[in-house]
Amino acid sequence: MPFPIERPRRLRATPAMRSLVRETHLQPSNFILPLFVVEGEGIRKPINSMPGNAQLSIDELVKEAEDARAHGIGGVILFGIPAEKDDEATGNYDPDGIVQRACRAIKREVKDLLVVTDVCNCEYTSHGHCGKIVGDDVDNDITLGWLAKAAVTHAQAGADIVAPSDMMDGRVAAIREALDQAGFEKTPIMSYAAKYASSFYGPFREAAESTPQFGDRRSYQMDPANAREALKEMELDLAEGADMLMVKPAMPYLDIIKAAHENFDVPIAAYQVSGEFSMIHAAARNGWIDLDRAMMESLTSIKRAGAQIILTYFAKAAARQISGL
Ligand code: PBG
Repeated sequence: MPFPIERPRRLRATPAMRSLVRETHLQPSNFILPLFVVEGEGIRKPINSMPGNAQLSIDELVKEAEDARAHGIGGVILFGIPAEKDDEATGNYDPDGIVQRACRAIKREVKDLLVVTDVCNCEYTSHGHCGKIVGDDVDNDITLGWLAKAAVTHAQAGADIVAPSDMMDGRVAAIREALDQAGFEKTPIMSYAAKYASSFYGPFREAAESTPQFGDRRSYQMDPANAREALKEMELDLAEGADMLMVKPAMPYLDIIKAAHENFDVPIAAYQVSGEFSMIHAAARNGWIDLDRAMMESLTSIKRAGAQIILTYFAKAAARQISGL
């Protein structure tokens, strides 16, 4: 029935009508806020390229986590910046490492907030790569041992979810086995299953001090040109025991999020990464786009594509918009 019988504008006439027919709704409880933790006390060192974000010492981190909870946000994901790095990433699987202590502090002080830990080596290695360097590449199978040990120390520190982001083959199985052996069969794994070798991680690497000192991550992170390979990565991770799958970055990979949602019946998460966040801020600072609207539109697009869980640096600001605070 073409025009003049069909007039789609009828359902767009007023805010109430638009609200009635809106298909996608954002909820703060589906957001996970990434936080950066450093040694020291009373430290809140702003990250230049990521307005509103800072490297936090544990005392400040606990306040930030409490504030996230007060905003109704589902959880936080922790990234640790150790005082010392070495070529074996020992800080990553130290039971008293920065993330392990941070995790314990949040679990002790803040109720009803999920703590997710990122299980990767790149913040802990002197060379900035995600695992053991052998020759000029990251050795897959040696790195698995580091990741498994790190995940167990995170679970011991009270982590509610562990999230491996290193893109080694077989890491989910290695982590699942180690967790189960240590008595953490109830700790879920949120796998960064389709993680691309992306230019949009730039600001994060400043924040986490994890820029590779040589080369890049293209021999382990995925080629941005590939979609079918993402499905293979997800299938493998599920078979190895992943409970949730993540796509990262988010907005340049909405097709991958949609494919994940259509093909797999586990919760799908997407990581709106630092570069996505910083781009929106930079354009808004120039007066070229409206910050709040671009923020909400970008998050809505990610949810609409099929991500139920969104890791985003906008978590608090978006929660305020949603609840009208
Ligand atoms: C660790 C890790 C990275 C990000 C999350 N976990 C950086 C990388 O792979 O280089 C990026 C997150 C962001 O850009 O916000 N491997």
